Amino acid sequence: MKTRAAVLRETKQEWSVEEIELDAPGPGEVLVEMHASGMCHSDEHVVTGDLPFELPVIGGHEGAGVVLEVGAGVTNVAPGDHVVFGFVPSCGTCPSCSTGHQNLCDLGQYLAVGLQVSDQTARHHSAAGEDLRLMCLIGTFSEHTVVNQASCIKIENDIPLDVACLLGCGVVTGWGSAVYAGEVGPGDSVAVIGIGGIGANAVQGAKLAGAKHVIAIDPVEFKREKAMELGATHTFASMEEAMVEVTDLTYGRMCNQVLMTMGEGKGDLMAGALGLTGKLGKVVVTNLHAAEEVNATMSLLDMTLMEKKIVGSLFGSANPRADIPRLIDLWRNGQIDLEGLVTKRYTLDQVNEGYVDMRSGKNIRGVLVMNS
Ligand SMILES: NC(=O)c1ccc[n+]([C@@H]2O[C@H](COP(=O)([O-])OP(=O)(O)OC[C@H]3O[C@@H](n4cnc5c(N)ncnc54)[C@H](O)[C@@H]3O)[C@@H](O)[C@H]2O)c1
Ligand SMILES: [Zn+2]
Ligand SMILES: [Zn+2]
Repeated sequence: MKTRAAVLRETKQEWSVEEIELDAPGPGEVLVEMHASGMCHSDEHVVTGDLPFELPVIGGHEGAGVVLEVGAGVTNVAPGDHVVFGFVPSCGTCPSCSTGHQNLCDLGQYLAVGLQVSDQTARHHSAAGEDLRLMCLIGTFSEHTVVNQASCIKIENDIPLDVACLLGCGVVTGWGSAVYAGEVGPGDSVAVIGIGGIGANAVQGAKLAGAKHVIAIDPVEFKREKAMELGATHTFASMEEAMVEVTDLTYGRMCNQVLMTMGEGKGDLMAGALGLTGKLGKVVVTNLHAAEEVNATMSLLDMTLMEKKIVGSLFGSANPRADIPRLIDLWRNGQIDLEGLVTKRYTLDQVNEGYVDMRSGKNIRGVLVMNS
């Protein structure tokens, strides 16, 4: 069938919205009519080349839609089902999935390749016949896509898909960075560095886990205001600015968790993050650093003497098949906000405009809403 998608052919170029040819789903695969896709910063890392994914690629990894057709052997979804895609697939049977680490599913090894996990071929092709790869194996900047059932998580049909899409990355990643990777507990002091789609949800996670102080740090005033609406207790424009006041607030004990959720991680900011962290505290590195960056500046003596920890976190260290339904329940119960995360909606043709707005700090999340 013919459909439309936003394709990146070369790094540092704009997304090209074009008509593409989509094959029928093969065994274990699912054809989905896309309704909405969040515009996460990770796609921007593919554009800059910081995330070396294979090109040409259909962008987008935070999507929701409706199943139109399933291939042979598909058991977890059926036509008419509403689905959110996990940006890491979960097979359910590999050593990671079967020990409660679906975010680290072994199928994740194919994320940067972007071909179907079943046979390493493409279902998506340009009008000229070239194979198109899929960002995170899903390619949600599209009106239709074909993905493996391992990427599909069924949700109830009454949840608006233009907010449900955020559960495919930002909500789970941010919330889990606080709750799972950070292990925030009642009374903790938590700093969240960078308030985009990820940091906003780290704020929500820290608040819900019972943090006493939720300190949101972002140079953009609108982001700081939004953070207060989502549960932050204090805001600052930079880590340096936060240092003195956090020292006062915590009687010098500093933060139990410092959650790094800036647009682009920088190794030379790690010293500042460790400085905000107290004894036995954790720095959670969720933001992506450029692949070629191999140096970080920090005092390892400080780390040892204060027993500080630095941990990475992918997809909120969560189990999307359990945590997406859990977060929907929390939303239904009024305990987390989803609607308030969407600053602006765009058409698929406006994808580049959406990223201009993300770069200039205008959006907590911009969401593409498809016309199909
Ligand atoms: N680990 C994962 O599983 C995972 C998943 C999704 C996204 N990410 C990454 O998380 C990061 C955040 O993504 P996003 O979509 O929320 O980005 P975003 O661009 O929407 O938001 C980033 C925010 O960081 C702020 N910022 C930039 N420099 C800062 C600094 N020095 N101090 C404080 N704030 C600063 C910006 O003003 C902006 O508000 C990106 O690197 C993204 O690729 C990681
Ligand atoms: Zn993302
Ligand atoms: Zn698995």
